[in-house]
Amino acid sequence: MEFSIKSGSPEKQRSACVVVGVFEPRKLTLPGELLDRISNGYIGDIIRRGDMEGKLGATLLLHNVPQTLSDRVLLVGLGRERDFKDKEYRQAVAAAIKTLNETGSMEAVFYLTELGVKKRDSEWKITQAVITAMESIYRFDRMKSKQDEVRRPLRKLTLSVSRRSELALGEQALRHGMAIAKGVSLAKDLGNLPPNICTPSYLAEQAQTLAREHNLQVEVLELKDMEALGMGSFLSVTRGSAQPPKLIALEYRGADQKQKPVVLVGKGITFDTGGISLKPPGEMDEMKYDMCGAASVLGTIAAVAQMKLPINLVGIIPTCENMPSGTATKPGDVVTSMSGQTVEILNTDAEGRLILCDALTYAERYDPDAVIDIATLTGACVIALGHVASGLYSNDDTLARELLLAGDVAHDRAWQMPLWEDYQEQLKSNFADMANIGGRPAGSVTAACFLARFTKKYRWAHLDIAGTAYRSGAKKGSTGRPVPLLTNFLIQRAEGKPGKARKGAVESEAGAAAAE
Ligand code: BES
Ligand code: MN
Ligand code: ZN
Repeated sequence: MEFSIKSGSPEKQRSACVVVGVFEPRKLTLPGELLDRISNGYIGDIIRRGDMEGKLGATLLLHNVPQTLSDRVLLVGLGRERDFKDKEYRQAVAAAIKTLNETGSMEAVFYLTELGVKKRDSEWKITQAVITAMESIYRFDRMKSKQDEVRRPLRKLTLSVSRRSELALGEQALRHGMAIAKGVSLAKDLGNLPPNICTPSYLAEQAQTLAREHNLQVEVLELKDMEALGMGSFLSVTRGSAQPPKLIALEYRGADQKQKPVVLVGKGITFDTGGISLKPPGEMDEMKYDMCGAASVLGTIAAVAQMKLPINLVGIIPTCENMPSGTATKPGDVVTSMSGQTVEILNTDAEGRLILCDALTYAERYDPDAVIDIATLTGACVIALGHVASGLYSNDDTLARELLLAGDVAHDRAWQMPLWEDYQEQLKSNFADMANIGGRPAGSVTAACFLARFTKKYRWAHLDIAGTAYRSGAKKGSTGRPVPLLTNFLIQRAEGKPGKARKGAVESEAGAAAAE
């Protein structure tokens, strides 16, 4: 889909459709009123008759509104004005796009971006509109023999800003939105691909393609390279698989060499059977999503490279399958990690931490400013936080705060969990430096505590995305999370205001009023 920005009144637009909002109960927004005025009360009449109450997400498509130059006017319900916040804005945008896409307007001029949203500025509204629009038209049907065709799909959306002075920042917000949306959709595609196609080698090829497209440095380590580095923990996971493991390292240089990079490390288990500690068969297909951390790293790097952010960023992806076989690792095996620490593997299904710990040690060579790992790490995190928030752990409170805020602004939220020493006790082993599991209590915390033993040399955060990376059931599919959180975090850093809600959040009340 194509996007553009414009400033101008709705009654002067020559378009297939003009999209305006209606608050509950029956209150037209300013662009709606302008259309009402030129049509001699045509729209107001319809609203008074009760055809559009303004309920959040409701839509009403009008044809041939008198005196207007556009073919259609789409009224979109916004709910009550005083309740109109981030979530309501996104919901209204999604409802509008869905209707446009289903009713044959191939292009439209969109006035919802002029609405006041508490604490958010027009850049935020534009970026979010683009991301939400792309989200609502996303399909994954490339594995079907026939693609379901939308008859007259929405092709071009023009977003309106209320003042000409907002056009320049609006353009930038638009570019950011398109880059993030593209990153999200790449992450979704990789997650949704079946595990017989999306193998470790496939991920490595994707990384190479990205590198060519965006002029990144890429390196793919093979089994023998990893053996030479002493990655005994990572390699214990791949032993049962016929697919060769890979360690992918991608580098984006957007700033001076001297500036320390942020390093993202993504879990890339392309299928997790559990290994010898085999998982039960129910929903095992969903373990194709066990590479969503890796997918989010690729999606984020793609977005950052497209935005040309002035930062340095590295992505590291340890990737392999976790399979049972005669050569697979057994419960009780002891392995030596690249850090030199030994691990007793009591459960081969706790494999994510085993590949991540070596990748986290490998990250040291980039002299990172901060390292963030992203992993569908534990079922326990799903029990703790459900499908709403990702679990966030960090050895640095400032970094944690920056990530939490970035998630909030992007509506891709995380919730901080404890990393206290007290939990470390659960990882004691009689036969090695540590066990790879900590028992049933606080399973997400002890997994993070395991990783913490490998990240003492730098500022580090861990995102457990087991509950947020994909949906199960009828709407089964990858969400692309946490690409929005990560890209927003990196945009904030690029703008030199880490910790502040630069992107989108208006800090003062005066600013909030000005944005309305
Ligand atoms: N990939 C799973 C975690 C997972 C579970 C992700 C459910 C998404 C949904 C991970 O490798 C795993 O199997 N973890 C075990 C750890 C346990 C053996 C300590 C788990 O959570 O059961
Ligand atoms: Mn597992
Ligand atoms: Zn796993």
